Amino acid sequence: MRIEIYYFSGTGNSLHVAKELQKQIPESQIIPIVSLLDNKYIKTNAETIGFIFPIHYMAIPTPVKFFIKKLKLDSTKYIFAITTRLGSPHTAFTDIDKILKNKGQCLDSHFSLTMANNDPKYDYKVPTNDEIKKFESVVHKNLDVIQKIIKNKEKSREKDNSITDPVPPILVSIAPFLNSIFRPIGEFIGFKSHYYADSKCTGCGICEKVCLSKKIKMINKKPVWQKNVKCFYCYACINYCPKESVQIKSFTEKNGRYPHPYATSDDIAKQK
Ligand SMILES: Cc1cc2nc3c(=O)[nH]c(=O)nc-3n(C[C@H](O)[C@H](O)[C@H](O)COP(=O)(O)O)c2cc1C
Repeated sequence: MRIEIYYFSGTGNSLHVAKELQKQIPESQIIPIVSLLDNKYIKTNAETIGFIFPIHYMAIPTPVKFFIKKLKLDSTKYIFAITTRLGSPHTAFTDIDKILKNKGQCLDSHFSLTMANNDPKYDYKVPTNDEIKKFESVVHKNLDVIQKIIKNKEKSREKDNSITDPVPPILVSIAPFLNSIFRPIGEFIGFKSHYYADSKCTGCGICEKVCLSKKIKMINKKPVWQKNVKCFYCYACINYCPKESVQIKSFTEKNGRYPHPYATSDDIAKQK
């Protein structure tokens, strides 16, 4: 039985889950979503496929949404999704179901895993090693259950009961609308002044290397966020900068950073 696990990961949480699941289902293959985004269509012959990705702004990240739209699923009989997130409710599974409905399919199972937050805006606190260990141990316990459900092709669409960051339901339901309005406006106003590298930047180019959308170009040894390329909001540039020099204006300057302890900048860059 062919099982394909497609993943998208800015700072390694979702990559870690994909790798751990692959260990438990050795006949499966993990494939980076970003590597396929330029294809017009994506054909899979796998009987079972899954998507593993972070929650961004209470919803599915835009590149993951575009990827699923391009999928041709003629041989697929079982589809699962796993999100990693800080703990808010989200619309990702209904977002996916809406896309799959056009292909005559729907999610058979879905799961939300709580992991360390990689969004260093506002009053961000870097997770301690103990906190990370606790997240990991719960993730491993959950994956023991999840892999059995996937192997047995069981239906599992339980209500999300591991929310640690509650948000008023009205905000969750309007999140896709807000995302569709504010993200393009943000892009239009221009992130030139929004993202920047402060004086600690040494010109090492790691931000360009990990930038999954290829928005960052090193010019004269400084990162430049190109206006005409859409950001994926993965925040790899912010979290992998060895000098913590990449900032979002007035939101991140005083805060620390988080990449997953087992995910190197090379691991993130390999998704391209
Ligand atoms: C731009 C951005 C927005 C986020 N929005 C949410 C959110 O709405 N709810 C939530 O629970 N976590 C949110 N997060 C946290 C991530 O979903 C979480 O840390 C995830 O595990 C990161 O996975 P990755 O390392 O594979 O990218 C957000 C992170 C970023 C960078």
